[in-house]
Amino acid sequence: MRVLGIETSCDETGIAVYDSEQGLLAHAIYTQEIHADYGGVVPELASRDHIKKCIPMVDKLLANNNINQQTIDGVAYTAGPGLIGALLVGATIGRSLAWGWQIPAVAIHHMEGHLLAPMLEDTTPQFPFTALLVSGGHTMLVDVKGVGNYHILGESIDDAAGEAFDKTAKLLGLGYPGGPAVAELALKGDSDRFHFPRPMTNRPGLDFSFSGLKTFAMNTLKNENDDVQTKADIACAFEDAVVDTLAIKCKRALEQTQHETLIIAGGVGANKKLRQHLMQLTNKLNKSVFYPKLEFCTDNGAMIALAGCIRLQALQNSGVQKKNLAIEAYSRWSLEELSPV
Ligand code: KG4
Ligand code: ZN
Repeated sequence: MRVLGIETSCDETGIAVYDSEQGLLAHAIYTQEIHADYGGVVPELASRDHIKKCIPMVDKLLANNNINQQTIDGVAYTAGPGLIGALLVGATIGRSLAWGWQIPAVAIHHMEGHLLAPMLEDTTPQFPFTALLVSGGHTMLVDVKGVGNYHILGESIDDAAGEAFDKTAKLLGLGYPGGPAVAELALKGDSDRFHFPRPMTNRPGLDFSFSGLKTFAMNTLKNENDDVQTKADIACAFEDAVVDTLAIKCKRALEQTQHETLIIAGGVGANKKLRQHLMQLTNKLNKSVFYPKLEFCTDNGAMIALAGCIRLQALQNSGVQKKNLAIEAYSRWSLEELSPV
């Protein structure tokens, strides 16, 4: 089965074709630059840019990779959670293409896409596993028994880890997205100068809280000279605190689930310090860890095409002929509401 994937939940337009036999055939990502001046994503600008980019990107991807549209068996689009206007663009285009091509369309949960992204690699994790999903909108630990069989073990009660990176970047005078900028500045920082708290690690449970770290960064900066070295030292202490906190909770989650495998996905999963730290942790615990390639940690169409392929194949195998012509878009949608495959 061959599936076209469309991702437009935030500020990335991602288009990809995934084939169940041959794997990922082609993908393209366009990251919107129009938000840079605002220090965050402006929803209406995001929707308008997706409208401009989406169809030309589909055409170009198919033409450049010699993929005949008639070989595509289904369309998968991100239906949520995300910015409602941005989601509606991908959902409407995806549903309409499928209608025009007389093939099925499937609505995909954005976080399920992230969660399955490690399966785009040559060596893939086996179920069950524990997943750390860390993006700009979410931070959660999930017990994954199979595709669609998700139990949220804990999540952020305020800012997501990526959001905290973005807000800290803004106060350090860095651009958006903040995660890569903070990580780069942190390389020049002294990790011994400041020590930031590890929020919610001194009490049981698997929930997170990251909004206090951004405030801690703000207060530290206020009490110091705002020279470049101080900013680098703050970036370093902030990054260490986020990474340490995530690692402490991953260890706890693995002890609770007793799973042998941890997977990390979502934009913050591209953070090198986090990847190294979790590699060391799982080595010590004699467990394995899987991540997607860096380009598939942040939002992309490949993860949506893959998730769509799995779901459409399951539907086909079940023999159910469900003719769902709805254009689905949900700004909020829990992973636990998904049906198991
Ligand atoms: O998964 P994603 O592309 O979009 C959402 O679904 O939210 O994640 C974007 C988030 C942003 O907050 C960005 O700052 C963060 O991921 N991010 C990083 C890194 N690369 C992206 N955070 C820390 N280190 C990075 N290298
Ligand atoms: Zn995402």
